[in-house]
Amino acid sequence: RAEIIRGAAAETMPATTASLRTAVRQSLSPSKSFSGKASVLRGHRCVTLRGRCTAGRRRVVRVVAMVKVVVATELPSKGKSSLMEALSPSDVWFWPEKGGIPREELLERVKGCELLLVSLRERIDGELLDAAGPQLRALSTFSVGYDHIDVAACRSRGIGVGNTPGVLTETTADTAFALLMSTARRVPEAVDAVKNGEWRDWRPEWMCGKDVWGSTVGIIGLGRIGLAFARRVSGFGCEIVYSGRRRKPEAEEELLRRGCKSVRFVSQAELVAESDFVVPMCELNDETRGMFCADLFRRMKSDAVLINITRGAVVNQDDLYDALAGGVIGAAGLDVTVPEPLPPDHRLLTLPNCVVFPHIGSASVGTRQKMSELAAANIVAALNGEAMPYPVV
Ligand code: NDP
Ligand code: DGY
Repeated sequence: RAEIIRGAAAETMPATTASLRTAVRQSLSPSKSFSGKASVLRGHRCVTLRGRCTAGRRRVVRVVAMVKVVVATELPSKGKSSLMEALSPSDVWFWPEKGGIPREELLERVKGCELLLVSLRERIDGELLDAAGPQLRALSTFSVGYDHIDVAACRSRGIGVGNTPGVLTETTADTAFALLMSTARRVPEAVDAVKNGEWRDWRPEWMCGKDVWGSTVGIIGLGRIGLAFARRVSGFGCEIVYSGRRRKPEAEEELLRRGCKSVRFVSQAELVAESDFVVPMCELNDETRGMFCADLFRRMKSDAVLINITRGAVVNQDDLYDALAGGVIGAAGLDVTVPEPLPPDHRLLTLPNCVVFPHIGSASVGTRQKMSELAAANIVAALNGEAMPYPVV
């Protein structure tokens, strides 16, 4: 006799088929004497147990554990609550750990799900979409950047893609400014010097950095975060040059009203030649990947500072190391690297003129909550058959 229990154990669906078997045994208590072979069927997770329950009867139990929504990332409480309000617990599975979900487990978990919520750590490609199956309708990423998603592959399969634009703009611009100031004024080096006993007395030429006020700041990509960063820079009496796919007259007028000395739309070649601080604020795409290479560094001023909070792959890190070590440019501040995390023994970390943050651009408590709400809103809309409120365009 085969008994099929649909959805059982879905709530606590564990990592491996072996641990699923254990969870099923526990959920079927008192049937601790069950033993059996676990298997994964196409499109859903399933475990078949053959054995004897405590009453002594022989039973075959097949548990099909299937969830509608897979949340493959830790999710702050507001987003989690929105999902829990819209779904019954057996319809959603949350990755329970703080670290990223291993690829193998992700490929297994997505089998049979209709909706998927991921972070920027999870690569969404053909392999993953195949593993999920044709019932996958939409996915939402807990990030504004979506370079980890093969959007074309999703489109060709009719899978909607959503992200979290806007709510992290100001926080990320704050981080970019903090990184700019830290790198220009050698803040991490100075703090270390205090702790290491290198601060002996006040010396006229010790720990001198580069002025931000009154400097020329070059922004590549005056998008949401680029403009929010430019507003901050305007208050420092800087000149702004920017490049991108198109000129933005309204943004120019606003920045001038805010006290910016001048704003000019220039070519990328002019931008790198003129700027004291070169700040890519563009998305990572085929045109921007590896944009900062030896050739570009050679065109920059020899004391110029590169600030990157977009994606690590915008920069060729080997070329950056050579440029920093060889005095081709002055310094670099990076919030994003390849790989992430950057190994503690990475050679970039041996350079005093390279400041590295651990990808904390949007990391304020309030902003991460708002991002979780947007990421969840995309899923809830798709669940109800509606258009996602924050689609990737
Ligand atoms: P937007 O879409 O508002 O801005 C993207 C900008 O990229 C646009 O201004 C666009 O220029 C520009 N761009 C695209 N292609 C090129 C190109 N070939 N050359 C020059 N510029 C180009 O996005 P956001 O401002 O919201 O976010 C930007 C990026 O920042 C994200 O994609 C993400 O990678 C990163 N990010 C990092 C965070 C962190 O934690 N470190 C946090 C949040 C975001 P145009 O306007 O002319 O079309
Ligand atoms: C993003 O949203 O793209 C960031 O990298 C993390 O907030």
